[in-house]
Amino acid sequence: MEACLKIKGGKMLEGEVEIAGSKNLCVALIPAALLSRDIVILNNIPMISDVENLINILRALNVTAKYCDGQLTIDSSNIKYLDLNMVEMTQLRASYYFYSVMLNLFSHLIAKPAGGCSFGKRPINLHLDAFTKLGVIYSRSDNGYEFNAQQLLGQEIVFPFSSVGATINAAVLALNCVGKTTIYNAALEPEVTELLLFLKAMGAKIENIGTSTLVIYGGANLHGCTFSNIPDRIEVGTYALIGASCAKRLRIKNVVLEHITSLLKIFDLLKIDYQIDNNDLIVKKTIPSGELSIKTAPYPGFPTDLQQPLTAYLSCGRAKIKLQEDIYINRFAHIKELKKMGANIKLHDNTLEINGVPSLKGTVVDGYDLRGGASLVIACLIADGESIVRGLKYINRGYDNIIYKLQKLHAAIELCQWESEL
Ligand code: EPU
Repeated sequence: MEACLKIKGGKMLEGEVEIAGSKNLCVALIPAALLSRDIVILNNIPMISDVENLINILRALNVTAKYCDGQLTIDSSNIKYLDLNMVEMTQLRASYYFYSVMLNLFSHLIAKPAGGCSFGKRPINLHLDAFTKLGVIYSRSDNGYEFNAQQLLGQEIVFPFSSVGATINAAVLALNCVGKTTIYNAALEPEVTELLLFLKAMGAKIENIGTSTLVIYGGANLHGCTFSNIPDRIEVGTYALIGASCAKRLRIKNVVLEHITSLLKIFDLLKIDYQIDNNDLIVKKTIPSGELSIKTAPYPGFPTDLQQPLTAYLSCGRAKIKLQEDIYINRFAHIKELKKMGANIKLHDNTLEINGVPSLKGTVVDGYDLRGGASLVIACLIADGESIVRGLKYINRGYDNIIYKLQKLHAAIELCQWESEL
């Protein structure tokens, strides 16, 4: 038996949705909170399985972590070294943030490789090169990594291209280096900027936050703090696309508009009916039409994490769209499923050619990754008839309370147990 979603498509949604805290920021904040022996309080932490896995890792390290109403209180005053061999390490991508944090605390670490959604190769060579440059010696075996960090010295790190994870891991390790580290071509995603602001709030000396050249001075004594997570811009984008797909009027609350500029640019080009009301985004159903070429890119470009939800929206209607995936060139597991529903999408190398069809039909579809799963939810909300979306465990990695939020918008969606064919 597998928990899945049963969706009866074709309903017009209406109402308000509250956006949860950012997944990709909180999964960096939680490990980084271990850098101080004081209590750290993190607000606006979403209840998603990535967070549950991180909390389990904290508890294994003898850290007290209490979660209540979105507030996570972390007390690592009694933290103890442990090889990070637990299965949770392989359940999410962001477990690699423990590498730099644990090296700062214990100068040594044996750890399993990070996991996360599988859409082709997701190397961490940039993280490892930065660690090596700062003085870490590591080896890789079938079971994972062994890291040793005896003499860490500030350096100049030049990333060949932008990486969220490598920027954060290099910046965190630089806090424990003697002297100054400069990181060139640092990632500009809001999650990176906010993580650096969190480190600063703990007492770290970091200059040029929000730019691609970061300067970090090692050796500061970090203290506790209270920090609030930002709204999840990918959840905003997902609900905005749900609104454009099938809502009479959907008010998305708690949006940082600056974080979704690239999405709104596409909404403008597609003439999607939306309005901004202070910090809320209001979206109404708009049948996609016109011709457009879109490419995913590092921030402030159009995010790869919305490529799959956008594909689902565009698959039904009259639009002819070329959508090029330039960050993860194999992030296309959703395409076979959308085709099962009647979508007309061709994949050439890393480019989708989407030709809108008049309608999609409900069926049983499989989500294989977080955003691919979300894209299938969108397609099933649009489709005629009943659908089952399997792979709910992937969706639960990153979408806080998705069933409740969609039910509140009057979607016909419910949890079900999958046993046999429909
Ligand atoms: N890359 C390398 N080597 C590295 C690191 C990255 O080749 O050492 C490549 C990647 O394969 C990719 C590109 O560089 O082609 C950018 O990857 P990045 O390192 O920025 O990705 P990440 O830090 O592993 C985070 C998010 C992803 C999001 C990407 C891009 C977290 C935990 N994950 O991943 O989120 O897609 O940035 O914005 O922050 C998701 O939320 O569904 C998700 C996958």
